[in-house]
Amino acid sequence: MSWFAKYSRSSIGAKHVMAVSGLLLLLFAVVHMLGHLQMFGGQDMYNKYANFLQSLWEVKWPTRAGLLAMVLVHIATAMSLVAKNRAARPVGYAVYRPVRSTAAGRSMILTGLVILAFIVFHIVHFTLGQVQPGVFHTLDAQGRYDAYSMYVYGFQNVGLYAAYLVGILLLSVHLGHGAASWLQSLGFRHPKYPYDKLGRLTAVVLFVGYMIPPTAVLVGLIKLPGA
Ligand code: HEM
Repeated sequence: MSWFAKYSRSSIGAKHVMAVSGLLLLLFAVVHMLGHLQMFGGQDMYNKYANFLQSLWEVKWPTRAGLLAMVLVHIATAMSLVAKNRAARPVGYAVYRPVRSTAAGRSMILTGLVILAFIVFHIVHFTLGQVQPGVFHTLDAQGRYDAYSMYVYGFQNVGLYAAYLVGILLLSVHLGHGAASWLQSLGFRHPKYPYDKLGRLTAVVLFVGYMIPPTAVLVGLIKLPGA
């Protein structure tokens, strides 16, 4: 077995792998969220941005492959840690009264599974265009792929808005806990610094940042061109 296989199967190695893969996914989530705020700049600004990203295949495909690899590594390592924990305590506690842990920390597996389902749905919706096929990959007045209108049609639909609200809420709780705990896993945590506050702040920023443009669409502040 190579040193890396041995290391990543040890408890500390698995914690490090969870922390690094989780951090890279968190960075992607922040960058993706910032990109969508350009919906407030109008159709031209958002479509310029979306078409620029789509045309950079040298960046697009390695990013897609990297994200998929990170998600698979993160899930496989989480499953192996859960299996180890169960093997170490085959009989549950008679009375379970957690002392230091938070609800967000204890529900990481549940929120993680819902996020996975949400991301699959999201890719079927916006990358494969199967949820609203009639508004997928239409062209704007300049002949560009009209990501702006696809976005607006998406969140004018209350059911889709509600699905994203739940998905983003759980994603924010999950990544908020992750943002505070990766420092502990990598050994950077010190009682002097307020990591729990960092976690809560990350959760709020992600939730508000992701949900502001869809909410603006739902209430009619962001509209289809000419509407
Ligand atoms: C309100 C929340 C979100 C909105 C409105 C949104 C919107 C979009 C849109 C419009 C696309 C297609 C871009 C294009 O085809 O040019 C996209 C792709 C994508 N989104 Fe999101 N997104 C949201 C949340 C998330 C979250 C939380 C994640 C994961 C952390 C995520 C991961 C992805 C991925 C992996 C892609 C595929 C990129 C590709 O095609 O290679 N999104 N998103």
